[in-house]
Order: sequence, then structure tokens, then C-alpha cells
Amino acid sequence: MKVLVTGGCGFIGSNFIHYLARKHPTYKIINIDKLTYAGNLGNLKGLNKKKDYWFIKADICDKPVMKKVFQKYRPEAVVNFAAESHVDRSISRPAIFLKTNVLGAATLLDLSIGFGVEKFLHISTDEVYGSILRGKFTENSMLHPSSPYSASKAAADALVLAYHTTYGLPALITRSSNNYGPYQFPEKFIPLIIHNALHAKKIPLYGDGKNVRDWLYVEDNCEAIDMVLHKGRIGEIYNVGGHNEYQNIAVIRGILKALRKPASLIAFVRDRAGHDRRYALSITKIKRDIGWTPRTPFATGLRKTIQWYTNNPGWLKNTQTGAYRSFYKKYYSKLGLSGS
Ligand SMILES: NC(=O)c1ccc[n+]([C@@H]2O[C@H](COP(=O)([O-])OP(=O)(O)OC[C@H]3O[C@@H](n4cnc5c(N)ncnc54)[C@H](O)[C@@H]3O)[C@@H](O)[C@H]2O)c1
Repeated sequence: MKVLVTGGCGFIGSNFIHYLARKHPTYKIINIDKLTYAGNLGNLKGLNKKKDYWFIKADICDKPVMKKVFQKYRPEAVVNFAAESHVDRSISRPAIFLKTNVLGAATLLDLSIGFGVEKFLHISTDEVYGSILRGKFTENSMLHPSSPYSASKAAADALVLAYHTTYGLPALITRSSNNYGPYQFPEKFIPLIIHNALHAKKIPLYGDGKNVRDWLYVEDNCEAIDMVLHKGRIGEIYNVGGHNEYQNIAVIRGILKALRKPASLIAFVRDRAGHDRRYALSITKIKRDIGWTPRTPFATGLRKTIQWYTNNPGWLKNTQTGAYRSFYKKYYSKLGLSGS
């Protein structure tokens, strides 16, 4: 199979390309990434030696360039990870989220129709459902996105389904809970905690710290995406959850304990605007119809993740570029903390 992966230099996309290359060594993989601050070619070290792997630096919103890519490589499947993905950034600068996450997805959908792509798998998020205090969201639940990020993802989901209904695009969607694991940019919750703890910096914690997230080890998500790509029913949405619900404060305490760092590093800060209290997904459908369940208990995944960041200080240091610094200087000063 010839698979075009977008956003393959980001966190989940790069883990997925490694997974795909291991699981299906004969597949041809084309990786399209704009290399924003979140994209890192270092995530794919080793793959350049693989025959049938191509990286092209391109913006999914740039239709003429993307058309050339489709013309040249003729992908059979498209897996769309490319997105602006950080909620805090979407609150301060929503426009780029609408452009990449909605218009970029629309460009890929148009080209996929035009070039007869056989499967279009769109990677979405549990955040499109919004917050739920009790119970779990199923794939049929109403969408109530709270942030510009989740609203842009919900809009893209609606487009994907419309392209399936209107033009017959063979499309599928996965909506996963919070991923964690190697190669995640350290603005996200778990790598931020590890990074700040390792550097004895304050760890900002929104509100009362009791917001609940369901944690999914990234390799388990890659397995789910691969299974949906091969066994999913066209036109369907699949929730992908980790069965690991924890309050944010418990996650921070666990990481500080594992790294033998003091709880005094925790700094409670004013709550994020529109902060969802709890996310929770029912994964009955993917279990029943595809046979996927998460494999990694949170304690195991967290241990592996902490180990990976501790063993890769060079990778962590390389992410501290101008874009990271300028965003975080402003962000930390707004929170009343000293910058990182
Ligand atoms: N991280 C999570 O916990 C999580 C959970 C559920 C769903 N998702 C979804 O999974 C996908 C990947 O998330 P991630 O955490 O790996 O994100 P990420 O921010 O780490 O990676 C995004 C990648 O997309 C690239 N990109 C951004 N704009 C682009 C553009 N216009 N053209 C081409 N490439 C572009 C970036 O350079 C980067 O490599 C996203 O669609 C996100 O919404 C993430």
C-alpha cells in the first residue's frame, strides 16, 4: 500500500510512521509536513535509510504543491495528522487553527476525490465532544467543542463526513483521548511536567488541578489507527480511549515522585478559559467491530515516557527553539511565573 501521511514529523504522526514501517515493511510511505515549531525531522531518524520512504516539506493548505505531490506519488491511502494542536495557542491565535485544521483538511479531501484515493483516514480528538462530568461519549454523541482548537477539529470532522456523503469519498475518522509518549513537544502536559521537573522549573497547573483526562499511550493509538485503516468500515467514526482517567494533579504528583522532585514545583495558576472539566470516551465500538483495546497501563506508559525523555536530553534541548521560547516567555509571564 502507498500511504500519504500528513504531519508525520509531529508527535503522533512520527510515532505512526515508525509503527507503519515496522508493521508493514513493504508499504511505501510519503510524509508531508510543513515543519512548524511542532514538526521535527529528528523524530524520524533512521527512516531515511528505508527504501520507499519520502519526506516532502509542504503545507497542506498549498493546493498547487499538494496537487503535484498527489500527481507524483498517487497515494492509495491518506492519513491526516497535520494540524495545529495546542489548545493554549488556539486561544491566543485562532486563525492559523482554522486555516490548517479546516482549510488544509478541505484541500486534502478535494485532492483525494480528484485522485481516487481508496481510504482517507482523518485523525480527530475527544475534545470535539466537549466536557462530560459523568458517563462517556459514544461516536453518536453531540459535538460541543469549547476551544478554537476543538471547534476547528469538529469542523474538519463535519467536512470529512460531508465528503463521504456527497462525493462518496471512502473516509474514516478516529477520535482519540490524550496521547503521551516519546517525541511529544514539551508544551503539552506530560512532557512539560517532565521537562520542568528535570530543570527544577515551576510546573503550572490550571485551576484546582482536578480536571480529568484519559491517557492513551501513543503506540496503542498507532495500533488503533493502523487497525482502523485496514479494518474500519468506510464512513464510520471510531473513538480510541486509554481507560486511564486521572486528575491533572495526580499525574503531576506521580511524575514528580518518579523523578524524586519536590511537590513545591507545582504552581497553581488561573484556570484556562473554556477549560473542559473531564473527557471520557466509550470504546465499545472499536473493541466490538475491530478488536482493538488499549494495551498499556498508565504506570507502564508513564515509566517508559519518563525514561525516554530522561535518556534523550538532546532531543528535548533541540525543541527549545525561538518559537518555543517566545511563546513560553509570554505565556509564563501571563501566568505570573518566570519564563523557561
Ligand atoms: N496529541 C494528542 O493528545 C492528540 C489527541 C487526539 C487527537 N490528536 C490529533 O492528532 C493529530 C496529531 O497531533 P500531534 O499531537 O502529533 O500534533 P503535533 O503538533 O505534535 O504535530 C502536528 C504536525 O503537523 C505539522 N503541520 C502543522 N501545520 C501543517 C500544515 N499546514 N501543513 C503540513 N503540516 C503541518 C507540524 O509541523 C507537526 O509536525 C492532530 O490532528 C491532533 O488534532 C492529538
